[in-house]
Amino acid sequence: MKIAILRERRPNETRVAGSPETVKKFVSLGIDVCVEKGAGTAASMSDSAFREAGATIGADAKEALAGADLILKVQRPMIEGEKSNELADFQPGQTLVCQMSALSEPEFVSALAASGVTGFALELMPRITRAQSMDILSSQSNLAGYKAVLDAAAEFGRAFPMMMTAAGTVPPARGIVMGVGVAGLQAIATAKRLGAVVSATDVRPATKEQVESLGGTFVAVEDEEFAQAQTDGGYAKEMSDAYKEKQAALIAETIPKQDIVICTALIPGRPAPVLVSEEMVKTMKPGSVIVDLAVEAGGNCPLSKLGKVVAKNGVKIVGHANVPGRLADDASKLFARNIYNFLTPMVDEDSQSLTIDTEDEIVSGTLVTRDGAVVNDAVPATSAPSASEPEPVLEGEA
Ligand code: NAI
Repeated sequence: MKIAILRERRPNETRVAGSPETVKKFVSLGIDVCVEKGAGTAASMSDSAFREAGATIGADAKEALAGADLILKVQRPMIEGEKSNELADFQPGQTLVCQMSALSEPEFVSALAASGVTGFALELMPRITRAQSMDILSSQSNLAGYKAVLDAAAEFGRAFPMMMTAAGTVPPARGIVMGVGVAGLQAIATAKRLGAVVSATDVRPATKEQVESLGGTFVAVEDEEFAQAQTDGGYAKEMSDAYKEKQAALIAETIPKQDIVICTALIPGRPAPVLVSEEMVKTMKPGSVIVDLAVEAGGNCPLSKLGKVVAKNGVKIVGHANVPGRLADDASKLFARNIYNFLTPMVDEDSQSLTIDTEDEIVSGTLVTRDGAVVNDAVPATSAPSASEPEPVLEGEA
């Protein structure tokens, strides 16, 4: 059995889907691993570190892919009509494991099916205890939540902790975290560690206790709809217009007192909810900083711009793309371990093959293509892109 670990080609992608640690573990299972030259460079993992771990180095994607059974990537490969057609080098019968944005990129899933490649979309991992160690959304969001606070601190012209000095007292920064999932919880913990006074809001009732246990103040509209806002999958539902109005009134009241706003609110498969309106930004103090981690899903603040730091009435709005990729070393190591934990239960060491057991909810939840067809009901239907109508080039996409 052979694994290929490819170099990422999408803009802003600094991560790699394997690490010397996971390569070593795959090799000890009797699996050959070929890493494409330079795949780990942006994540501080050299070709020689991969070689020492037991991998061979492929001069390019074609060489790494030759004879590979399994292909590991961070982001879905580009398809015909994008800047380059990475998928063209894949062979029918190969299995791809990566983050695919399968719910929002049905054209990609169709193209993958048409190419005869079996595909596992890691972002569709079920939120169950057994899958925690395989959950890329969790491992990457945790780092993003941490980095968002550091990015805010770097843009902020004041200190976070209260300081009593001979020259006078520096008041602590006040921060609010919008959305208390994995990223939000880490943002609260990080801002607290830096000495800020932190509050947080969410629509899922379970988050109240979590915020308070981290020493934050919970701010939310706690009505009947709030009590029902969590789906069975553990995610938030889209709220009604009436709830959104009440929530906006509460945020409008809270936000002028804040120095730092960390936005992390997401709804799977839907645009991110708008929580910090342009009007609200106008009420904030000059020098305040908003970091919008939801910018790739449209943003919690309509003023945030993907890949940019913009200023509005003296308020800085940070919209960095691919925030986990700004901590590429740790992010890659965790991503690589998630993949290793996902694959090993499927690897049959004796026959050196992958057993795809669709009775297993982890397998059926993430499997999107097999035998030339789209096999996951969660993926919206689409027609495969035709050669005569190329897809638009997705410049700047992370
Ligand atoms: P997410 O990234 O989808 O959303 C971030 C946060 O935004 C969520 O807490 C969500 O409730 C909140 N949000 C959505 N709409 C909002 C609105 N209008 N106003 C305010 N907040 C809003 O969520 P994430 O971080 O992926 O986690 C969701 C849940 O899944 C959590 O309970 C987490 O503990 C759980 N989880 C379970 C795992 C497992 O058991 N394997 C692994 C990872 C997370």
